Formats: sequence, C-alpha cells, structure tokens
Amino acid sequence: MHSTILTASLLTLSSLHAVLATPSRTVQNVERASCTLAALGSGKDDSPQLLTAMQSCSTVVIPASTTLNISTRLNMTGLSNKHLNLQGTMRFNPNITYWTANAFPFAFQTSITFWILGGTNLLVDGGGTLDGAGQAWWDAFASNSGLLRPITMTLFQATNVVVQNIKMINSPMWFNFVNEGKNVTFSNVSLNAKSTSSHGAANTDGWDTYRSDNVVIKDSVINNGDDCVSFKVNSTNIIVSNLNCTGSHGISVGSLGQFAGMFDIVENVTATNIHMSNAQNGARIKAWAGSGVGSGIVKNITFANFVESKVDNPVVIDQCYMTSASACAQFPSNTFIQDVFFTTISGTSSGSTVASLACSPGARCSDINVNNFSLSPPSGTAKYTCQNVKLAGNAASLFGTCATT
Ligand SMILES: *[C@@H]1O[C@H](CO)[C@@H](O)[C@H](O)[C@H]1NC(C)=O
Ligand SMILES: *[C@@H]1O[C@H](CO)[C@@H](O)[C@H](O)[C@H]1NC(C)=O
Ligand SMILES: *[C@@H]1O[C@H](CO)[C@@H](O)[C@H](O)[C@H]1NC(C)=O
Ligand SMILES: *[C@@H]1O[C@H](CO)[C@@H](O)[C@H](O)[C@H]1NC(C)=O
Ligand SMILES: *[C@@H]1O[C@H](CO)[C@@H](O)[C@H](O)[C@H]1NC(C)=O
Ligand SMILES: *[C@@H]1O[C@H](CO)[C@@H](O)[C@H](O)[C@H]1NC(C)=O
Ligand SMILES: *[C@@H]1O[C@H](CO)[C@@H](O)[C@H](O)[C@H]1NC(C)=O
Ligand SMILES: *[C@@H]1O[C@H](CO)[C@@H](O)[C@H](O)[C@H]1NC(C)=O
Ligand SMILES: *[C@@H]1O[C@H](CO)[C@@H](O)[C@H](O)[C@H]1NC(C)=O
Ligand SMILES: *[C@@H]1O[C@H](CO)[C@@H](O)[C@H](O)[C@H]1NC(C)=O
Repeated sequence: MHSTILTASLLTLSSLHAVLATPSRTVQNVERASCTLAALGSGKDDSPQLLTAMQSCSTVVIPASTTLNISTRLNMTGLSNKHLNLQGTMRFNPNITYWTANAFPFAFQTSITFWILGGTNLLVDGGGTLDGAGQAWWDAFASNSGLLRPITMTLFQATNVVVQNIKMINSPMWFNFVNEGKNVTFSNVSLNAKSTSSHGAANTDGWDTYRSDNVVIKDSVINNGDDCVSFKVNSTNIIVSNLNCTGSHGISVGSLGQFAGMFDIVENVTATNIHMSNAQNGARIKAWAGSGVGSGIVKNITFANFVESKVDNPVVIDQCYMTSASACAQFPSNTFIQDVFFTTISGTSSGSTVASLACSPGARCSDINVNNFSLSPPSGTAKYTCQNVKLAGNAASLFGTCATT
C-alpha cells in the first residue's frame, strides 16, 4: 500500500529530488512527500493544520508523543493517494455546543460525525489512537435523549481504503460508518468504549456499513455497548473475520425494510471466526413487517464458526421486527430472506433459548440452513424456536416442527 501511494503520488522523480534537497522550501504545485505535525498546545485547535497537511502532503505523520486537539470538524473528502500515519493521538475535544451545531449531518438515521474521510487510495495506520472523548457525551445523553452525538470516523465516498493497526476509544456514538464505500479494509483495529460513570457507552456500534460494496473487517477486538458490526441498507460483498466482540449487541444484518417506497438489499455477507462474549445477540438478521413499511432482499448470508459466551440470543432471525404477531400476519414482511447459513455455532447463552428463527408469515424465508450447532444454556434444557420456515441442515432436528403463525 505504501509503495502504491508513492508511485501513484503527484511527485515526479525530479520534484521529489527538489523536496529532499531543499526540505524547508515550499515547492509550488507539488505535494510534499511527508509532513510531521506537532500539537500547537496552549488550548489551540489542531484541526486547521491537520487539514492543510492532508491537502498538501502525501504522508502525514502524527508522532507517538503527539496528541492533536481536534476542535473543529474535519472535511477530508475527495483525497487521493494519502497516508495518515497516526502514531500518536487525535482527540476530539468534547465541546457539545460546537459539535451539535457543526458536525457533518447525514439523513441516514439522523447521524452526525466529527470527520468525513473520502477519495481513493487512502491508508490510515501507525499504531496510534482516535479518542472520541465520549464520556462527556454519554453523560449528557443520559439527561437529554434527543442529543445527537458524533460518529468518530465516517468513510464517505471512499474507494480503495485500508485502515489498520490503530486503536479507537470512547466514541460518543458509532465508531466507524462506511457510507458509500468501495473496497475498504479494516484490519487489526482495536475498539474500546468504557464509561467511568453510571451512564453506559450508548450506541457505540463498532462498524455500520451503508450503500457500500466490498468491505473487509478482520483481526480486530471490540469492547462496546451496541452492535459489533451492523450491515445496513445496500451492503454487498462483505467479509468479517477474526473478531472478538465483548459486551455488544452482536453482528447484525439490518434492520431492513423499514421505510415505505424503499427497496433494501444486503447480499453476500460472510462473518466467520467470531468470538462473541457477554452480548445481547450473536448472529442476527432483522427485517420489518407491518403496514406502511418498505421492502427488500437479504440473500447469501453466512455466519460461521461463532464461539459464544453468555449471549442472550446466540442465533436470531426476526422478520417481524418491531411488529406484533397480528400485524405481521396481516401485513407480512416484504423483505425476503434467502440463502442463509448458520454453521458451526458453539458456546453458551445467558437464558434458556439458544436459537430463535422467526420468519414472517407468507413464506418470506427460504433456504435457511443450520449446521453443527453446539449451544447450551446456563442450566436446564436448551430451547430452539422457529416459525414460518422450513430449515435445512444437520441442526434442523433440534428445532423440531416450526410454528405457523
Ligand atoms: C482544544 O482546543 C479548544 C479550542 O481552542 C480549547 O477550548 C480546548 O481547551 C483545547 N483542549 C486541550 C486539551 O488543549
Ligand atoms: C467537503 O469539502 C469538499 C471540497 O471542498 C466540498 O465539496 C464538500 O461540500 C464538503 N463537504 C461538506 C459536507 O461540507
Ligand atoms: C465551545 O464551542 C462554542 C461554539 O463554537 C464556543 O462559543 C465556546 O467558546 C466553546 N467552548 C470552549 C470551552 O471552547
Ligand atoms: C482495493 O484496495 C487496495 C488497497 O488500496 C488495493 O491494493 C487494491 O488494488 C484494490 N482492489 C481493487 C479491485 O481495486
Ligand atoms: C496491531 O496494531 C497494534 C497497534 O494498535 C500494533 O502494536 C501491533 O503490532 C499490530 N499487530 C500486527 C500483527 O500488525
Ligand atoms: C480472540 O480471542 C480468542 C480466544 O480468547 C483468541 O484465541 C484470539 O486470538 C482472539 N482474536 C483476536 C483477533 O484478538
Ligand atoms: C438500494 O439499492 C436499490 C437497488 O439499487 C435502490 O433502489 C435503493 O434506492 C437503494 N437504497 C438506498 C438507501 O440507497
Ligand atoms: C456469497 O457471498 C460470499 C461473500 O460473502 C461470496 O464469496 C460467495 O461467492 C457468494 N455466493 C453466491 C452463491 O453468491
Ligand atoms: C454476490 O456474489 C455473486 C457471486 O460472486 C455475484 O455473482 C453477485 O453479483 C453478487 N451480488 C452482488 C449484489 O454484488
Ligand atoms: C459439520 O462438522 C463436520 C465435522 O466436523 C464437518 O465434516 C462438516 O463439514 C460440517 N458441516 C458444515 C456444513 O460445515
């Protein structure tokens, strides 16, 4: 990746020579190869110098001893061939008044973000930390549930991107939002949201993908208070592997099909080699039903090699999401679920139900496969429930005959 950036950068050999020969001279119209930032200190905002460096240098180094004070929003869209070498820390100053008025908004789930990063051929690495300073936000949210809190990093219209070998801590809201991304890889990223007050680290999803294709999330460790990874509307060709998720709401497709007039797609998703501990859910698919909702398709989804520990709902399909049984019978889901594989799922639940596959009436689920389940509740007999679906695979017999509703 590094060499790709160098070869593809705007530098010609002669201008590179000029930069190296006269490092302090400003070379007009030519990107500098590498720039190293120091914190301004004295309560100053480091955002402007970081934005300038990202525009004018191929590589921006934030040294290990440096903490940048990010006090104003970061618009880093439309970049090409950039390497952000984050060895130190970028800390997002928790001035709630400022961010509430100035963070970048997205219509999707009325989200806001500190930082939009986009363009082509981008690399973020270096072993450093993105610190969302979430504590002030979680505490404020506890007494104001309408408070919008910023997502730490949004990859917006980003293509050919690698984010690796960094840590992210205490995001006020989701850690990562991949919005209209293509060919994006996250590798060896450690996420940790930990509240030191009685107010939890609310809504700290690890990754949400939206309108994105070809995303890989691998070899990472997550401690958070909401979805570990969530595949939202129009997420396609996604691989999630080797994640350890603790305290989360699991790995989820959806929820989909909520909005009338919209057609939602999640297709070709594999989540494999996942350790899921103390979580609300393990592997989950959720889609809306009822009157006045949308439609869509969930197709070719594999959840394989999950090792779960104290998970409330280790295996879930809920195709009557947020819908009463009677409304679901009257208005079945228009989000069809096809070609789903739950394979080699082991470990423990926290309650008696270890798997619940609840499809909508009206034959909305097809080709749902369950294989090699080894799940046990803390005590008593494991409960497997299913409705309106015909299961295939060697674990189907555990479910018995599915209910028809
Ligand atoms: C960060 O910058 C803001 C705005 O200049 C300032 O109010 C705040 O005190 C700074 N924070 C730190 C830790 O320097
Ligand atoms: C970010 O900056 C680009 C380039 O200057 C501009 O076109 C775009 O509108 C900005 N985005 C936002 C959300 O402000
Ligand atoms: C917080 O941001 C507001 C709005 O931009 C500004 O007026 C105020 O001075 C900032 N507070 C601090 C402590 O920096
Ligand atoms: C995907 O991105 C990586 C990293 O930037 C790049 O090496 C690779 O060539 C890209 N793949 C495609 C198909 O463009
Ligand atoms: C993973 O990232 C951390 C920094 O967060 C680094 O110290 C470690 O060496 C990386 N591991 C690998 C295998 O690259
Ligand atoms: C996840 O935890 C398991 C079991 O403790 C361990 O073997 C594995 O290396 C961990 N994976 C990562 C990516 O840290
Ligand atoms: C998702 O993709 C479908 C099919 O291309 C399209 O009709 C729909 O508008 C997309 N939804 C969003 C939110 O982009
Ligand atoms: C299912 O999705 C995976 C990626 O998650 C892909 O490798 C595979 O080819 C897809 N299978 C079909 C039949 O589309
Ligand atoms: C899913 O994967 C299959 C097999 O690779 C491919 O043919 C299909 O186009 C993919 N679907 C989407 C929506 O990308
Ligand atoms: C189930 O486990 C057996 C024994 O390890 C293995 O041979 C088989 O391929 C597994 N089934 C699936 C669908 O992976």
